[in-house]
Amino acid sequence: MSRSGAGQSPLPLRLALDHPTPDPPVKSPSRSVLITGATRGIGRELARQLHAEGFRVFATGRDADQLAALQQELGCPGEPADLGTAEAALALYAAAHRALGRVDVLINNAGFNLAKQPIEALTPEALDASYALNVRAPILLAREAFKEMGPRRSGHIVNVLSSVVHMKPANYAIYATMKHALHGFTGCLLREAQALGVKVTAVYPGGVNTTFRAQPRPDYLQPASAARMIVQCLTAPDDVVVHELTYRPMVETNF
Ligand SMILES: NC(=O)c1ccc[n+]([C@@H]2O[C@H](COP(=O)([O-])OP(=O)(O)OC[C@H]3O[C@@H](n4cnc5c(N)ncnc54)[C@H](OP(=O)(O)O)[C@@H]3O)[C@@H](O)[C@H]2O)c1
Repeated sequence: MSRSGAGQSPLPLRLALDHPTPDPPVKSPSRSVLITGATRGIGRELARQLHAEGFRVFATGRDADQLAALQQELGCPGEPADLGTAEAALALYAAAHRALGRVDVLINNAGFNLAKQPIEALTPEALDASYALNVRAPILLAREAFKEMGPRRSGHIVNVLSSVVHMKPANYAIYATMKHALHGFTGCLLREAQALGVKVTAVYPGGVNTTFRAQPRPDYLQPASAARMIVQCLTAPDDVVVHELTYRPMVETNF
């Protein structure tokens, strides 16, 4: 007998669906977040936007005055730190953990590119300094975060890389090498972390108009826009993990 025959009432819609679709799970509004490089640029906007979203922020950077101003603005804890040494990175994580009680989200955002340099101009000192901040510090911070997030089977680690990972531009050898190294680490972390229920997101921004460069680039992304994309990954429904996020200003065609 036909179920759609004349004179019969139609099936209720929910019976016609293979899988009922409940509302997506909603994030807890009170997660805690450690943000590096929060004194300027993308990191500062991340701190502001995540605070507005209800996150409990711990902010850091080297510039004590800029940090104090941000802390006053948000009423959040923080501590100045130069992440150029392994000891400082580990001490910073411990300070954030003490202040927040637990770290639910780590954003490894601090990074720098001293200058565009041809390979003939490379020095061991420039290599070491770039490695320390762009590679060693985020890896050690991620290790510390993973040690507490893994057993809890929850948490989110965000590594801010660069669209430079998708290309190999001339005169970017040190910066590109370090971001590629962190990209490699992030890929391994992603697999180990997801097995324990911890989310990992690798972010590859194109040009952003921050103090990262000596000259302003108003045609590049505004730092608030760059931060907003990362906030969207952190406020996505619980059943979503964004593994990789690449975004660029419309003027950029290096893809
Ligand atoms: N801007 C871009 O076009 C762009 C594009 C792709 C990727 N990125 C990446 O995005 C991230 C943020 O960049 P941004 O544009 O916001 O740069 P930015 O405006 O130069 O800010 C960099 C942040 O890192 C902190 N920092 C620098 N050296 C540090 C150190 N030794 N120890 C601790 N903190 C340190 C700075 O604070 P203090 O000076 O107070 O220490 C500052 O808060 C970086 O990882 C960068 O590589 C940027």
